[in-house]
Amino acid sequence: MSKLAILGGAPVRTAPFPSWPVRDEREAEAVAEVARSGQWGFFSGTRQFDFASQFAAYQDVKYGFPVMNATCGLEIALKAAGVGAGDEVIVPGFTWVATASCALTIGAVPIFVDIDPGTYCLDPKALEAAITPRTKAVIPVHLYSCMADMDAIMEIANRHGLVVIEDCAHAHGARWRGKGAGSWGHMGVFSFQEGKTMSSGEGGLVVTNDKRYEALVHAYANCGRVREGDDLAEGIIGWNYRMTEWQAAILLAQFSRLEEQTAKRNEAMGYLDKYWEQIDGLAPMRVDVRQTRRGAYVYTFRYDAAKFKGVSRSVFVAAMQREGIPLSAPYTPVYRSPLFVVSPAEFPAAAARCDYAGLRLPVTEHAVTEECLSMRHSLLLSEPKDLADIVTAALKVRENLGELAGKTVEELTA
Ligand SMILES: Cc1ncc(COP(=O)(O)O)c(C=O)c1O
Repeated sequence: MSKLAILGGAPVRTAPFPSWPVRDEREAEAVAEVARSGQWGFFSGTRQFDFASQFAAYQDVKYGFPVMNATCGLEIALKAAGVGAGDEVIVPGFTWVATASCALTIGAVPIFVDIDPGTYCLDPKALEAAITPRTKAVIPVHLYSCMADMDAIMEIANRHGLVVIEDCAHAHGARWRGKGAGSWGHMGVFSFQEGKTMSSGEGGLVVTNDKRYEALVHAYANCGRVREGDDLAEGIIGWNYRMTEWQAAILLAQFSRLEEQTAKRNEAMGYLDKYWEQIDGLAPMRVDVRQTRRGAYVYTFRYDAAKFKGVSRSVFVAAMQREGIPLSAPYTPVYRSPLFVVSPAEFPAAAARCDYAGLRLPVTEHAVTEECLSMRHSLLLSEPKDLADIVTAALKVRENLGELAGKTVEELTA
């Protein structure tokens, strides 16, 4: 039995995993072309609309509107949905802050609900239980590499007249029953922030099959301007959330690799999942059979300390990191995040109606604090021998549990 690296032994791995973003001359040349063209923005350029329509079609959606990032994309999708001050928007507790803050910043009230323990995505039963006469919209998040149950969510939303905005920030290339993420709800929003599986540093896209939503998204993103031919009343107060041609040029280059990278990531997830099924105390996510392809912003699997001699997840993660495997912690529940501070002066409707500090969502909290293990998508672009190191490290830690049991990370690393 070899000595754990956290106890001074040799690590399983010292070589780095693939870095991100993957880039080559395609990005460099694309940016140089924009520079030479002098067409740098929304009004003079065409690249962002080429990219938007190509990517929307790839996700099986009719329209795509390019924006600065997904945070503002979610905000204007809610505005396009008719969500206004005091309206309620249902969101999962386990997600990035923007899924909820986009409701706050337009004066609406984010209502957090719990998640499905197998996929970490919004639980349709919790959604239905949270609907009130004030509920206007729901934002299911396709979190990390799983998709929310879009059949159940659409059925519930249609029955209650809710607008569904899919948060697809993690779901590039993901498919539900063969059809792309973002094509199931009334709108969907993608992110191209620097860590995402396609990136231009920052960037976003709002997708929809509905011409009216697309026209409204355009107006809200473009200072309230109503485009010629769009059947909208004038007088919309909007923002300037327009994308630039620099972002679009890089995105077109990144998009050229997405299909191949998604296939490779799916293969890697399948490989790792098979091993976790065989190791008592580790388990893959329960990918719904209707999810026909996974996006993979973050690869997650599940840890059960009770089957690891009570060794806490944080000790397991620290031990894996010392073996050269960069496991990381997941998001905190949004309602516990220091970035989600709901002051009564700034957000009166939400502060008056919700006790976010007193909220408890047991499945979310168990996943976040005890169970969820995560690693960045760039690891999934590794070759099989490198993926094997991840499994070898997990088995090595498991063989040495006696050395870790009862200890904290601080004690082990002092
Ligand atoms: C689930 C989710 N939604 C929304 C966003 C916001 O995306 P952006 O950074 O493009 O504003 C993120 C970004 O990390 C995210 O992870």
